Amino acid sequence: MKEKYYITTPIYYPSGNWHIGHCYTTVICDAMARYQKMLNKDVFFLTGTDEHGQKIEKKASEKGITPMEFINPLVDDIKSIWSALDVNYDKFIRTTDDYHVKAIQKIFKQLYDKGEIYKSEYSGWYCTPCESFWTDTQLKDGKCPDCGRPVSLEKEESYFFRLSKYTDKILKLYQDNPEFLQPKSRVNEMINNFLKPGLSDLCVSRTSIKWGVPVSFDNKHTVYVWIDALSNYITALGYGSDDTSLFDKYWPADLHLMGKEIIRFHAIIWPAILMALDLPLPKQVYGHGWLLIGGDKLSKSKEEKVKNELTDPKQIVDRYGCDALRYFLLREIPFGSDGVYTNESFLNRINSDLSNSYGNLIARTTAMVEKYFGGVLQKPTQREDIDNELISLAEGLFNKFTSAMDSLNAPDALSEVFKLISRANKYIDETTPWILAKDESKSERLGTVLYNLIETIRIATVYLKPFTTKCPDIVLTALGLNGKDFNTFDTVKKFGYFNGGEKITVVSNLFPRYDIQKEQEEIDKLLAQKKENKMEENKEVKKPDGGEVKLHDHSAKPEISIDDFSKIELKIALVTACEKVEKSKKLLKLTVKIGDETRTVVSGIAFQYTPEQLVGKKLAMVTNLKPCKLCGIVSEGMIVCAENNEGKIAFLTPESDIEDGSQIF
Ligand code: MSP
Repeated sequence: MKEKYYITTPIYYPSGNWHIGHCYTTVICDAMARYQKMLNKDVFFLTGTDEHGQKIEKKASEKGITPMEFINPLVDDIKSIWSALDVNYDKFIRTTDDYHVKAIQKIFKQLYDKGEIYKSEYSGWYCTPCESFWTDTQLKDGKCPDCGRPVSLEKEESYFFRLSKYTDKILKLYQDNPEFLQPKSRVNEMINNFLKPGLSDLCVSRTSIKWGVPVSFDNKHTVYVWIDALSNYITALGYGSDDTSLFDKYWPADLHLMGKEIIRFHAIIWPAILMALDLPLPKQVYGHGWLLIGGDKLSKSKEEKVKNELTDPKQIVDRYGCDALRYFLLREIPFGSDGVYTNESFLNRINSDLSNSYGNLIARTTAMVEKYFGGVLQKPTQREDIDNELISLAEGLFNKFTSAMDSLNAPDALSEVFKLISRANKYIDETTPWILAKDESKSERLGTVLYNLIETIRIATVYLKPFTTKCPDIVLTALGLNGKDFNTFDTVKKFGYFNGGEKITVVSNLFPRYDIQKEQEEIDKLLAQKKENKMEENKEVKKPDGGEVKLHDHSAKPEISIDDFSKIELKIALVTACEKVEKSKKLLKLTVKIGDETRTVVSGIAFQYTPEQLVGKKLAMVTNLKPCKLCGIVSEGMIVCAENNEGKIAFLTPESDIEDGSQIF
């Protein structure tokens, strides 16, 4: 029976703003899955999308559509990116899939029944874009420590997972299994930042977020983020369903690969959940570095860095091919560390390795085979010292290659393959086949040299199969080897599998060489065009009947009818008192008079206004908004503000004096 190998990417948030950094994790996983298959293992490669949460709920409602209507095209888009990049997953899980939802409900109930989950009340600083709660001490300058955006203090009834009781167990896990969390630097990060201070219990349900898996025994709660997301690794295999055959076969995972920012969830919360469920733990969690777009020059703003770089994966694949992008991602970024993408670094890498080195070796060799032997070579019987040097490098490659790949180091594995390719180019210069060709008596030697080159090309090409998935078929077909089985490394451990006799065809332009200056100009045009298209898209909004209407440039929301608008009650409110909300840097509590009525409103404007600036002001206010609790205070309406691109706000006051309680329409 084949050895199994189960590998996963994180499930991706469906977002319309994809850049090549997002593709990094999945392309590595795909290369590793292909590599393991070539080692003859029974591989299962999982990816998918993480579709619940407040962010999606909010974005969909801003667009006036349901969360599913919002998500579906984005998921299709993600799948089309994977297809453009030749990502060959075995399963794509969506957290909105029925089987996943049911399994999550079972898992939650199981944990509750075991006493691992209990009901209490949560209060914390919440960052909506990051879907994370933070404690006072974790905030950075009062803002989200991850993204730097404002947070709001929220309190509500919640279920909690007893994460705190797992502190010592996780520490022991790291001690007993040094391979569990890689690279090593991440272990210290987890210990120093989270385990040493002691873990706190984890909020695992929300009542304020409707877009989530309902808790089956208390349906005003939805399961909150991480139990839902992390459990995908087992629900995808049928855990919690009637058919657990895949789970029985593939769990535990051999590798969870992800970017370093979500290591905490995979190396602390996930093993704790699994321990609580009495399930085996994954063998390895690996947190890779980030791809930084546009370099890291501090003098440039983020926008400036990205502005001139082509970052849309589909555009890159369209222009340069899937192999080029896959090769760059797998070769350029030192594994485990951050790496930089610029148009220039990308083109340089493709030019130097794929075009000048590999492509050129193939073009030179196949052209000579055609020219001197009509495309057909015979297997030689003799070797010279210089041949042996090339041959032993080729035969020694397997150990070096597998040792790099087994530690997930694709850049090192590729660098070993390219050492062989460079050696072969040098071998051409040393053996000078064009001089041998001038002397009839050297014909056999010429055949040997070209055979050695073709065999080296074949070997290098088989090693490239997990990385550049398109060109191996082209090259092996050109060598007349179409239909031969190169699905394992069996034929490349020894030199000489190539028997000769097959017709070899010339491959002259496998990877074109790019003029970087010219390409940059073309890229500038492409980016300008894209910007223009985006502006046009914002202007043109499709009507339901298919007709088009022009809107103002800034209309990000769909058209509504006067009936929709009339559902909103807007009135003039007079601020009679105002104070800061205790423990909140952002919130002010306002007492307002609206005609005969007095109300309390909590508003997140303390970062710009003091209470004194507001008392006595007449402001525009939404008065029929469902009341909500903020920091334990019931807010009965919403102050309307204008906000510019820098986040500066201004409230709206009547142009001339008018009584409070007056309607705004
Ligand atoms: N939904 C969560 C994961 C839940 S897993 C149970 C999530 N999704 S994500 O869409 O934000 O990220 C998906 C993957 O893309 C992560 O591994 C993340 O690190 C990776 N990347 C996104 N931008 C990246 C770069 N610029 N560079 C490298 N990888 C980065 O987190």
